[in-house]
Amino acid sequence: MSRLVKYGLGALPVFLKSKGFSSVFVLVDENTVKYCLPLLDKVLDEYILVRIKSGEKNKHIGTCEKIWDTLITKGADRKTILLNLGGGVITDMGGFAASSFMRGIRFINIPTTLLAMADAAIGGKTGVDHAGIKNMVGSFNEPMLVLIEEAFLKTLPQKQLISASSELFKHALLQGKRGLKRHLQSAFTRIHSTERLSLIRNSVNFKLSVVAKDFEEQGLRKQLNLGHTVGHAFESYFLNYGKPLLHGEAVALGLVGEAFIAHRFYGLDYFCFLRIVYWYDLNFIKPNLERVNFNTVLNYMRKDKKNSNASIRMVLLREEGKVDLDKEVSESRVREMFQFIRSF
Ligand SMILES: NC(=O)c1ccc[n+]([C@@H]2O[C@H](COP(=O)([O-])OP(=O)(O)OC[C@H]3O[C@@H](n4cnc5c(N)ncnc54)[C@H](O)[C@@H]3O)[C@@H](O)[C@H]2O)c1
Ligand SMILES: [Zn+2]
Repeated sequence: MSRLVKYGLGALPVFLKSKGFSSVFVLVDENTVKYCLPLLDKVLDEYILVRIKSGEKNKHIGTCEKIWDTLITKGADRKTILLNLGGGVITDMGGFAASSFMRGIRFINIPTTLLAMADAAIGGKTGVDHAGIKNMVGSFNEPMLVLIEEAFLKTLPQKQLISASSELFKHALLQGKRGLKRHLQSAFTRIHSTERLSLIRNSVNFKLSVVAKDFEEQGLRKQLNLGHTVGHAFESYFLNYGKPLLHGEAVALGLVGEAFIAHRFYGLDYFCFLRIVYWYDLNFIKPNLERVNFNTVLNYMRKDKKNSNASIRMVLLREEGKVDLDKEVSESRVREMFQFIRSF
């Protein structure tokens, strides 16, 4: 199992040459072909393009079939390698398509969004959405290599950048107080690119260290779901009943909501809670929650994959760097959290 992460595209040609692949395919969408492929072109001579349409709505098995069809018609074999050039949709789906093509060919993730660099491209979860459920079909399968090139972020819309910063903040929270400082000094968009790269490296190293101890999420890896029980519920709610939130925007709200529960009922220090609220205000504009039907949000929480028997469980922060996994939280406590979320 490889957990190789390299920084800068320069490492790619030597790596490919050393492995003797029969052919190189590059998976792109209409944005990464335009904004990211030119950079890859500088280091890669021969490859075959596989084009798909961007976005979560195309992250399904039908798109995998198109990828497989292109691989077949363009002569891929078991010694082919697939380079996934894109955001989390491309790395998740390309990873899955590669893992199942001819019982598995090798793949490399080249993440081009902040979310994919700091989170999605790392850790070997691959998959597609199915029957309206996110990541319903997939596998644990690690890329041979993850190549991180910060220059790709120059063309990424600011909204995507801000949204994804919540995953970096989450990783920092899970590590302890020290890493939080930079996130609290200024808004994420004001951080210089060299410093941003060091935050990305920190996130990558942290995620790798967690995944190394618990690849298939039997225990420790669950901590990465911090903020996600409440976050996913808001994400689903706004997807169906309003202006959709980006995943990271929903997670940011989830981090605040879950911190409220941790503080109000389970002893999380008041100042830690305040720091999380402060971080939220520094980076995000709260969506309008006036007309949100919290019963519906609550139902989404009950349906969360992580919950069993309709009880609501979440990862709760005990202090910076320490969490309780699978904490059962009563409905009345969740409702109190909604009151807070509505008004903070
Ligand atoms: N496997 C995991 O562990 C894991 C973890 C977190 C999230 N995910 C998955 O990641 C996906 C979300 O990823 P995402 O936020 O990267 O979204 P995304 O892949 O949809 O990318 C966002 C948009 O940015 C465009 N884009 C990509 N790179 C660009 C660039 N450099 N410049 C301009 N535009 C660019 C894309 O074409 C797309 O339109 C979800 O499907 C989620 O389930 C997986
Ligand atoms: Zn997430």
